[in-house]
Amino acid sequence: MKKVLITGASGFIGSFLVEEALKRNYEVYASIRKTSNTEYLTDPRIKFIELDFSDKDSLSKKIFGLPYFDYVIHSAGLTKAVQKSDYFLTNFQYTKNIIKVLISQKRIPQKFIYMSSLAAYGPGDPILLQEIKSSDTPNPVTSYGKSKLESEKYLSTLIDFPYVIIRPTAVYGPREKDLYTVFKLINKNLELFVGSKKQHLSFVYVKDLVKVVFQTMESNIVNKGYFVSDGNVYDGEILGNIIKEQLNKKTIRIKVPVEMARWIAMITEGTKYITGKQPVLNLEKIKELESINWKCDVQPLFDDFNFKPEYNLSQGITETIQWYRQANWLK
Ligand SMILES: NC(=O)c1ccc[n+]([C@@H]2O[C@H](COP(=O)([O-])OP(=O)(O)OC[C@H]3O[C@@H](n4cnc5c(N)ncnc54)[C@H](OP(=O)(O)O)[C@@H]3O)[C@@H](O)[C@H]2O)c1
Repeated sequence: MKKVLITGASGFIGSFLVEEALKRNYEVYASIRKTSNTEYLTDPRIKFIELDFSDKDSLSKKIFGLPYFDYVIHSAGLTKAVQKSDYFLTNFQYTKNIIKVLISQKRIPQKFIYMSSLAAYGPGDPILLQEIKSSDTPNPVTSYGKSKLESEKYLSTLIDFPYVIIRPTAVYGPREKDLYTVFKLINKNLELFVGSKKQHLSFVYVKDLVKVVFQTMESNIVNKGYFVSDGNVYDGEILGNIIKEQLNKKTIRIKVPVEMARWIAMITEGTKYITGKQPVLNLEKIKELESINWKCDVQPLFDDFNFKPEYNLSQGITETIQWYRQANWLK
């Protein structure tokens, strides 16, 4: 039985990666922290390990006592940080730490999957509106995106270290907590739009994303990056329209100019110093909301893996709403 180490296993995407790995009969090592919420990791076959990526010595000792991992999927990452430097620490430095330990202990896996993000490259050109491609010069506008790009650059310097970089666009599905805000607002008959320019967005349902991860992991392809979306382009209103239709709600639409949204974000972001958590509406989010081109090129996935997404936005949202209702997240 092949062994896979999944970091960030307690996260939204990580928990689905663990489920898919079990389905595919891997021996699954789920890396978590003392504080991690493991409510979605209930399968008794899961082997939990606590890894502290910040401390290379303790990480090295811990890894030394573990078996060889055929594959490593590094999904641990910070998507909302209180300090900008935290993005670089968690998303770049900790990635480097785990890779260095694997290399120094000659435990190079058959494939190391790095969960990057479209944010590492995007947004795309707002006038030409071409899809963002791997051959483009990356142009991240957020610290989050920049930190992901640093890891990508680091990976590209490695010799004899087989990796694949996955760059998902916005991922949604059961257990997801950020886009959930949109579902909650619509359920309360409210829709919020920032700016007046039409956005060109892409999405991927979490179950399609994890299939891509395993397809790339089990393939012979190495040292390549893939954008992942469902292959469609959606305008900014479609997400709301689909949710509204499925929740059978009518909404009051509030359009907020970008500058006003920036002021609101400055105020909401101030709460992070009290709560220790970055709110969903923050200044980095505004940078994403005011960028209009989030189209990405998934042709390489079709070419290399004959990737066929099972879910378009409407199908994915149906399943997501079902789950939110069952979990009592939507009443
Ligand atoms: N969701 C998206 O739309 C999206 C899009 C593109 C890329 N991604 C990338 O996909 C990956 C997973 O995202 P997600 O949506 O599943 O996020 P998530 O739900 O916030 O999960 C993040 C995971 O990373 C772990 N983590 C965070 N900081 C850590 C640290 N210092 N040490 C060890 N573990 C740490 C978390 O552990 P705890 O549970 O202990 O906090 C959690 O398991 C991330 O790398 C993210 O950048 C996500």
